[in-house]
Amino acid sequence: MKVEVCFSPALYPYYAGDNNRITVVVDIFRATTTICAALQNAARSVIPVASVEEARDYKAKGYLVGAERNVKRCDFADFGNSPFDYAAEKVKDMDIVFTTTNGTQAIDMAKDSDILAVGAFSNIDALADFCFGKQKDVCVLCAGWNNRFNMEDSLFGGALARKLIDKGYNSASDATRVALSMWEEALPDVRSYIDKAEHIKRLEVNSLLDSVAYCLTENTVDLVPVYDRETKRISVK
Ligand code: MLT
Repeated sequence: MKVEVCFSPALYPYYAGDNNRITVVVDIFRATTTICAALQNAARSVIPVASVEEARDYKAKGYLVGAERNVKRCDFADFGNSPFDYAAEKVKDMDIVFTTTNGTQAIDMAKDSDILAVGAFSNIDALADFCFGKQKDVCVLCAGWNNRFNMEDSLFGGALARKLIDKGYNSASDATRVALSMWEEALPDVRSYIDKAEHIKRLEVNSLLDSVAYCLTENTVDLVPVYDRETKRISVK
């Protein structure tokens, strides 16, 4: 079995030919970390939508909505894109409509994969066990920023690849080797490595650095969110 890292949604069409695999969508800051947090806090499902208009329509129908553009919460939404917004007392047993600048677009792009799983540092061990248990190839799709490479998602690609290689996967591709090198370089101090990332600056100017440490912490969540093509919802399988 092999593990690939796709560094940008713009590259994804070149990885999408073989859908008989697990695509792990990752947006460390902050969409996929937030989906994991909402489900950990017992939300029934997350309904990803690509556009703000769709999210607004759901809101008018009475749904709880999380909506973010350019790191800011949309004014009509109940939640923004911080994992801390999705506390158990607000989300337990609820279906939450969710749209973000890049994360939910990447989910939309990968929805025809045999299995679409949501990845974050917070669920990395559960995810590695899940992938190994399925005995399928894995492609990590980095949500990036407006189709551009970003450090944090690529770093996660390296971290997950390391865990899967330790379980017997192989890393045939140059992209995976580069992601692994990033992870090795970052390992002594991931927080200071990521300090150079563009998204840290974006969060900083909007006073949104509060969830960065949480987004980089491994294994605070013991579940794997999976997208269901029939219901178009993400839930824990
Ligand atoms: C996104 O989807 O682009 C991000 O999750 C942005 C953010 O940090 O809110």
